[in-house]
Amino acid sequence: MKRYLVTGGAGFIGSNFIKYIMQKQDVVVVNIDNLEYSGNLENLKEVENNSRYRFIHGDICNKELVEELFKREEFDYIVHFAAMTHVDRSIENVEPFIRVNISGTYNLLENARKAWFNEKGYMEEKKFLYVSTDEVYGDLGEGEYFTETTPIAPRNPYSASKAGAELMVRAYSETYKLPINITRCSNNYGPNQFPEKLIPLLVNNCINKKPLPIYGDGKSVRDWLFVKDHCTAIEIILEKGKVGEVYNIGGHNEKTTLDIAYMVVDYINKKYDKKVTRKLITYVADRKGHDRRYAISPAKMIKELNWFPSITFEEGIKLTIDWYMNHQEWLENIVNGEYKEYYKRRYGN
Ligand code: TYD
Repeated sequence: MKRYLVTGGAGFIGSNFIKYIMQKQDVVVVNIDNLEYSGNLENLKEVENNSRYRFIHGDICNKELVEELFKREEFDYIVHFAAMTHVDRSIENVEPFIRVNISGTYNLLENARKAWFNEKGYMEEKKFLYVSTDEVYGDLGEGEYFTETTPIAPRNPYSASKAGAELMVRAYSETYKLPINITRCSNNYGPNQFPEKLIPLLVNNCINKKPLPIYGDGKSVRDWLFVKDHCTAIEIILEKGKVGEVYNIGGHNEKTTLDIAYMVVDYINKKYDKKVTRKLITYVADRKGHDRRYAISPAKMIKELNWFPSITFEEGIKLTIDWYMNHQEWLENIVNGEYKEYYKRRYGN
């Protein structure tokens, strides 16, 4: 029975991963999460009473707590999701991105190194998987794709902090031979995503008949992957990924912001509420340093690990919108918390 340490497991991708892996395999999961603004234990209702699951309310930057945890538990896999993840928040305030993303990652690396190394070298079948992002590559021109050898060139404080942490993971691999993998995934979407991100923000605003804020001309391109397909990719990389390697994860699903807004509005209009129309779309000032296009080549994942995304965007976006429409209480709980202030600060109402 594999023992996992999942960091940031109360967040969007982390909680989807925990639910996926616990249902699929007989594994033990310890989830450490500090329940900052986007961490939400509601996301883990399905597993909270499972005897193979344990939650620790704590910060990955807390040296004593993490050290104590590694003394108490023996982990086979560390899947490190915990991070400050929102570009717009990083533009507002850089410091937490450095603290959590860089120092937090260092703290985990250092403890994994100590825990997994003995007089015979590293214990076998251990792995530290760092969940990075395609955003570390920076902006991309038309017709090009990020591959694992594309130079890292982040352009905003969020992606710079992810790149910094990633380079430290690489250093632990090269210097101390810590068994690691790094994943760089494209934009995820699906249930439980915090509504500061594009798709749940659009759905939430449609529900409340609020303007749908589109940055700049709405032509920025993102490559969207359904969160479950990200989870299957991580599972395969943990088991079969070559130690020390970086893997790009994506599904060739390039859409402009405006494409997404039209899909969300049109689907809600057709299925749920005729009053939701494209008239809600409102152009607002562009994000500073806005990366125009991200697009990933998942060729290595496909060729070496035989991974394929299983959910088309057309299916996934409907599943996702239906989930939010059927979980409006979940959205309301968030909207009534810290989000209210954040939204006012950013969008003005
Ligand atoms: P986001 O979900 O923040 O992800 P990321 O910037 O990390 O890719 O944004 C996705 C795209 O949507 C990005 O091009 C910015 C755009 N966007 C808007 O146009 N309006 C919004 O209110 C938000 C949050 C994003």
